Formats: sequence, C-alpha cells, structure tokens
Amino acid sequence: ESPMLIDKFQRVHDYLRISVTDRCNLRCRYCMPEEGLPFLEPAHYLSFDEITEVVTVAAKLGVRRLRITGGEPLVRPNLEKLVGRLSAIPGIDDIALTTNGIYLAQRAQALKEAGITRVNISLDSLQPERFAKITRGGDLSRVLEALERSYEVGFDPVKLNVVLMKGFNEDEIDDFLRLSIERNVTVRFIEYMPIGHEGEDWKASYLPLETVLERCRINGWEPVKLSQEIKGNGPAENYQIPGAKGAFGLIHPVSDHFCQSCNRLRLTADGNLKPCLYWEDEFNVKKALGDEGQLTELFLRALDAKPETHEMAKALQGEEKSHNPTLRRMSQIGG
Ligand code: GTP
Ligand code: 5AD
Ligand code: SF4
Repeated sequence: ESPMLIDKFQRVHDYLRISVTDRCNLRCRYCMPEEGLPFLEPAHYLSFDEITEVVTVAAKLGVRRLRITGGEPLVRPNLEKLVGRLSAIPGIDDIALTTNGIYLAQRAQALKEAGITRVNISLDSLQPERFAKITRGGDLSRVLEALERSYEVGFDPVKLNVVLMKGFNEDEIDDFLRLSIERNVTVRFIEYMPIGHEGEDWKASYLPLETVLERCRINGWEPVKLSQEIKGNGPAENYQIPGAKGAFGLIHPVSDHFCQSCNRLRLTADGNLKPCLYWEDEFNVKKALGDEGQLTELFLRALDAKPETHEMAKALQGEEKSHNPTLRRMSQIGG
C-alpha cells in the first residue's frame, strides 16, 4: 500500500493544480504590468514527459483530479497532447482547465476530446470597453464565444471567475448575478488576494464579498446556500437564487479562509511543488525525476511543510507574518 497524501491536519490531498506556463496573452492590470514579468525560458518549463511522470507518481499517492492552469495554459503549444497523456494515467478521473477564454472557442472540441471535462473561465467585466481596459486589450466577444462553445462541446460545469475589485467592477455584481439566473453557469466572485504584492494598491482595491449577498438582498433575491458541492470541490461557497438556471459562488480567502478543507497541491511551470498558494515553501521536482521513490519522498516532504493556514488577512493590517509569503506572482503559480 502506498502512502496517501494526508497531512498533519487530517486534510486529504487528491487534487493537483498544474501550471503549464507563466506566460499569458493578456495583461490584466491586477496581475501583470504592461510589459509582462520576467518570463521563464521555455527550456525551464517541465516537458510533457516530465509532467506526466510527476502526475503518474501523484496518482499512485491518491491524486484523482487535476486542474491545468497558467499564466494562460492555452499559450503552451500542443496542450491537447499533454491533456491526452494525463487522462490516460490510471487513477486520474477528472481534468479541468482554468483559462482566460481568449483561445478557447477554437480549441474547445479538441480539448474535450483530449480529456478536459470542465472549464473555469476568467471574466471580470461584461462591458466590452471595461474588459479591454482591465485586460489591456482583451476582446470580450471572444470570451463570450468561448462560453457558448463550452456548452456546445459539453464542458460541465462551466464556471466564470470574477475577481471583485473596489471601484472597478463592483457595479457589475447585479449583472453577473443575473447571468447566473439566465444561464447554466456558476459565477464565482473572488476576493482579490495579496499574492506577490501586498502594497497599498492591493489594499485600496480589495473588496470583501459580503457585498454580493447585500446586492441579493437589495434586489429581493433570496439565495439558498447549496450544501451539495458543484463538481470541483474547490474553495467556493455556493448559492443559488431560486428559479435560476445557474448558481453563484463566493471565494473569500481573505475575509474568511477555507484552509481547513484544502485538498490541493500545486506544481509550477518550472517544476516546483507548492504546498500552499500563499507561502514561499517550494520543492523542486527536477532532481527527483527518473526516480519514483524520490518523487514520492518529495510529495511527502511538501505535504509535511504545508501550514495549517495562510495569513492573507494580516496583509490588510500590515501585521507581521509567521513565515515568508511567496514572492511569486499569481501567474507564476497558477492561482
Ligand atoms: P474548482 O473548484 O476545481 O472548479 O476550481 P477552483 O475554484 O479551485 O479553481 P480556479 O482556478 O478557478 O480558481 C478560482 C480562484 O480560487 C482563484 O482566484 C484561485 O487563486 C483561488 N484558489 C484556488 N485554490 C485556492 C487555495 O487553495 N487557496 C486560496 N487562497 N485560493 C485558492
Ligand atoms: N486575487 C484573486 N484572484 C486572482 N486571479 C489572478 N490574480 C488574482 C488575485 N490577486 C484569478 C484570475 C483567474 C484565477 C486563476 O485567479 O482572475 O480567474
Ligand atoms: Fe493572464 Fe490570468 Fe493574469 Fe489576466 S489574470 S494577465 S488572464 S494570467
């Protein structure tokens, strides 16, 4: 019997997020500066063979679900090939994708055939000009087309990720909630997190999610909390407005953390296992490649280093933290 990935806080880890690139075809203002970040040389990315090897070991340790992330995962050439290989690994029974949707419409069918079962599409504004402004040039119509194609090819569920930012898109909460009434989509409102930057800009833009429930009350919608999870088992707390075709979710790591139910590890594009999104601890898989025992050992060490919780809320008060937060930006981790 091989060991399972259960940490000292009794959390069972059966989910691995795999970042396949730190690059992106957009430049969302809260994520990257206009000129981008110092990107990895392609030679430093784990190859498809290497990712497959790491996942094969993870699957033996009980990992059942994968999520492919970036940067923007669809800028990694031939991603479908990787997905096909990962879906053939015994034990892996669900592979999801987090994408900005710009390249998704044309590739949805091929991704579905390769083994992607469901998608989370980032979409912070439903207004074309505002969308272009936040993404620095993104074309909203392509994301909306990706949403339609996602239904057509049968991704299920389809989720939208909306990072709420004060003074930026809080006036669109009603529109996003209406979308969850009209379409079979789960709209997830996400608190802006201080990952890789905790300065005054972050604090000025951070918006706690009570605002969403307040908008429901103001509109006379009485959302019902869903006890049954929407496929994915992520950190979202899910609600449905009675009669709605879809649902909405709240992801609120800052105002109220969900670390006690954390089920995930992360693998960065340059081959580092990260036990927690927030902290700096990393375990490089490259030296362990080719040796199943060493890879297993590395997973167990990463798990052992996993803290009980992050301390994102302390960033609001500028309080001292117990460990060092990561210096990576969100796009260098994969969210
Ligand atoms: P599923 O539940 O599998 O659909 O996915 P997800 O919501 O976990 O994944 P997604 O990539 O769509 O991420 C949505 C948001 O949740 C992003 O802002 C992520 O950074 C955030 N997120 C995902 N996992 C964690 C986590 O473990 N901790 C924190 N703080 N945020 C997370
Ligand atoms: N805080 C919260 N969410 C973020 N994302 C990117 N940066 C942040 C941040 N600082 C979101 C993206 C994408 C998901 C992977 O993470 O919008 O939907
Ligand atoms: Fe790209 Fe996602 Fe960052 Fe936007 S948030 S620039 S889509 S990696």
